[in-house]
Amino acid sequence: MSAELKSSSWERLREDFPVTKKFSYLANAAISPIPRQVQNAVARFYKDNMIYGGTRWQKWIDLIEEARRMYADFIGARSEEIAFTHSTSEGMNIIAHMLAHRGHAISNDLEFPSSNLPWINRGADMTIVPSLNGMVPIERIRKAIRRRTRTIITSHVQYSTGFKQDLETLSKICGEENLYLVVNATQSIGALNFDVDKFGVGFTVANGHKWLLSSFGIGTLYVQSKLLDDESGLNPPFFSQFGQEDREHFDNMKIRMSKNASKFELSTPHFPNIIALKAAIAYISKINILRIEERIRYLTQYLIDRLAELKIQILSPLSNIHRSAIIVFKSRSPEHLVAYLGKKRIIVSARGGGIRVSPHFYNDESDIDKLISALKTYQA
Ligand SMILES: Cc1ncc(COP(=O)(O)O)c(C=O)c1O
Repeated sequence: MSAELKSSSWERLREDFPVTKKFSYLANAAISPIPRQVQNAVARFYKDNMIYGGTRWQKWIDLIEEARRMYADFIGARSEEIAFTHSTSEGMNIIAHMLAHRGHAISNDLEFPSSNLPWINRGADMTIVPSLNGMVPIERIRKAIRRRTRTIITSHVQYSTGFKQDLETLSKICGEENLYLVVNATQSIGALNFDVDKFGVGFTVANGHKWLLSSFGIGTLYVQSKLLDDESGLNPPFFSQFGQEDREHFDNMKIRMSKNASKFELSTPHFPNIIALKAAIAYISKINILRIEERIRYLTQYLIDRLAELKIQILSPLSNIHRSAIIVFKSRSPEHLVAYLGKKRIIVSARGGGIRVSPHFYNDESDIDKLISALKTYQA
């Protein structure tokens, strides 16, 4: 393992996260604490609003368009393919509205409810593929494809097992079968490199309060540009003044929908949340997402090695291709153990029949060592 991954530059970044002074915070798959830079950006916005009110409107609009460009860049997309939503669920509901009636959809039984329920709620014709040992084998998805199938829904990383789906292979199948690929990337964007072009996805949703280190109430929806044209007929379930073609010169009798993904935004922007995301993307990009991915890999490997020394069974898939930032290990009484660790200021989650540990780059070996020492003294 390269010295860079242990180096003092990571320790300096740790200083940006005051949470580390109080906790061994290993629950970034649930909620990430924000770094100082994000808190500062949001505070600046509110100060601006307090002193200048709406006279700052154009400046805020410019900031949002800059945020859109930065986020698009971050996931290999184009600005016009990005909409700011409020949550993963909002994005998935919009997609389900557009696709649920277009044909059979395939998902799986590991998904977080936000991936499946919007489709079930719309009465979609769906096949739920059963998982196998915490994974969703692509072969099972392929076998579920019918003539009437139009959509495949999957998380990039599963919240309860950490299984990372092989999106490149899946998108190849979608290309061959002419299917929409809908990806819930909530548990990967911000922790792992996510590239919409490389992965060949049609739709992607995520939120800001997990690995993206930003705010509650900010989500993102990516829609591939070729799915945005008039012919696709993919429009939101709502009308939004902000989603009109010419926002400044709108007509109050005629709908002229924007050709950009901004048509999926429900009116006046939630400026502070988008500004939080912008600051977080700037912060993460400065570090570099590939370095972050490597650092997380180093920390999760450190954890895996320590757990192996204690002979604790790991439930997450550990092969290179399916590994993520989430490691779940077995526990006979996960809730009890989470509470025990919480009293020692070690923050983890009970998920997938065990304990979910989800370190971000600002964590270090000492956080994991504290968890391991606590496990040594724990009696179920
Ligand atoms: C994979 C996944 N999707 C969606 C959500 C919920 O996201 P939101 O509250 O933004 O809809 C979670 C939260 O745990 C999640 O893990």
